[in-house]
Amino acid sequence: MKGVILAGGSGTRLHPLTRITNKHLLPVYDRPMINWAIKTVVDAGIGEIMLVTGGTHAGEFLRLLGNGNEFGIDRLSYAYQEKPGGIAEALGLAEKFVGGDDVLVMLADNIVEYSIAKPVANFLNDPTGARLLLSEVKDASHLKHLGVPEFGANDTIIKIIEKPESPPSNFCVTGIYMYEASVFEIIKTLKPSNRGELEITDVNNHFVDNSSVKFDILPGYWGDGGESIEAFWEVNDFVRENGAVKIIL
Ligand code: DAU
Repeated sequence: MKGVILAGGSGTRLHPLTRITNKHLLPVYDRPMINWAIKTVVDAGIGEIMLVTGGTHAGEFLRLLGNGNEFGIDRLSYAYQEKPGGIAEALGLAEKFVGGDDVLVMLADNIVEYSIAKPVANFLNDPTGARLLLSEVKDASHLKHLGVPEFGANDTIIKIIEKPESPPSNFCVTGIYMYEASVFEIIKTLKPSNRGELEITDVNNHFVDNSSVKFDILPGYWGDGGESIEAFWEVNDFVRENGAVKIIL
């Protein structure tokens, strides 16, 4: 299985901080945000990783991460996204790197309290088109900024709605996704959404429609440090007090 970490986008919700750097280089407690995503993917046992980024600060990632060995990465590759055309577009840039293998995708602004090694093992032991990681979100107004699954009989996901006005459940689809290589064929069929992006939720709904999506519910805390300046500080406070990517004993 390969890993793809997505760190492109424009980061407008964190302006003016992101006028002078890439969002994923901002600090979360004692290190740049991106380092937590790398730790998450490496801890799940993945040694070959592609980092996709864009914009005017892309070179800083090379300065920070180099060949990745210091962070436990065996082979670190980089791709450059010319414009923020969406999460699915950014993932599409990794097709040749993934080369027919399975892929774990992580948005670099996501932070998990606990290791995701178990859900990754679940995917490998029970392969399916897509395996999603959900997190319970108690505050309905927060769900309006996320992708939200609607459940049918036997706890199956029947639809995912991106940024819903009326959230159909108390769970969000986090920015951590596992796919079989067919994901790259699906990306090629996508049309840009109203906001002009190739949406990862459209990719996931493809797998939902083919009944080839499974999910795990993340234990503990999950946060999206890029959602708003309040979310950025909430994530910082949490990690400072509790740490992140901890091993479940
Ligand atoms: O964090 C979880 C949420 O992430 C999910 O619940 C949503 O379903 C999913 O669409 C996504 O929503 P966001 O509105 O948070 O996505 P955002 O545009 O902030 O992009 C998240 C990350 O994806 C960003 O930190 C870097 C990467 N990205 C994004 C875009 C638009 C790219 O690499 N390239 C891009 O063009």
